[in-house]
Amino acid sequence: MAAQINPSILSADFARLADEAKAVEGADWLHVDVMDNHFVPNLTLGVPVVESLARATDTPLDCHLMIEAPDRWAPQYVEAGAGSVTFHAEAAAAPVRLAREIRAKGARASMALKPATPVEPYEDLLPELDMLLIMTVEPGFGGQAFLDIMLPKIRRTRELIRKHGLELWLQVDGGVSASTIERCADAGADVFVAGSAVYGASDPAEAVRALRTQADAGTAKASWFCDH
Ligand code: DX5
Ligand code: ZN
Repeated sequence: MAAQINPSILSADFARLADEAKAVEGADWLHVDVMDNHFVPNLTLGVPVVESLARATDTPLDCHLMIEAPDRWAPQYVEAGAGSVTFHAEAAAAPVRLAREIRAKGARASMALKPATPVEPYEDLLPELDMLLIMTVEPGFGGQAFLDIMLPKIRRTRELIRKHGLELWLQVDGGVSASTIERCADAGADVFVAGSAVYGASDPAEAVRALRTQADAGTAKASWFCDH
């Protein structure tokens, strides 16, 4: 699978979301950061905005819920039109039940891990998921510096995916840019969220293409990929 690039609209102009979505039409998914000012110290948008955005673009929506009580809210994002819904492991009361509910409603189910949350306790849950998101910054804000110390976790997750023969996508989010994306791909990521690196560029569509080319180059050289 070619690397997937998901621009984060957190770095876009919220008053022009439909245009900002069109500006990255070659992207694989549009990453939508939902924050509730409880799980993270920031507040963004909710179900009505996702509903409108889903009508305004053909690019599928990848909703990243940085909220408490995702068990209660996540299904509503599927109904609002999200193609993929990510809840945080630290916030979910019943992650298996929630992942099954998201899938049953017709979206891809995904779970996110904050930097201090290890992947190993979730090994047996991985078959219940379509994607695992490894945060490479503390969630809450765009434009933060990439945490290199997350690279070993990405490698260990890729190894678990291989060990169990899973179709799981491995997403990274936070500080992904031209200077960090190859390291992420080399470690085993295959879905890349980029906010400031895309919307801070003079040509966002070109930034998406350039990031994808770089990620593909990183993957082609990677041992986890070459060994297949
Ligand atoms: C941060 C969000 C990210 C954010 C990434 O909590 O989950 O999706 O938009 O922004 P950059 O790419 O600028 O780090
Ligand atoms: Zn995000």
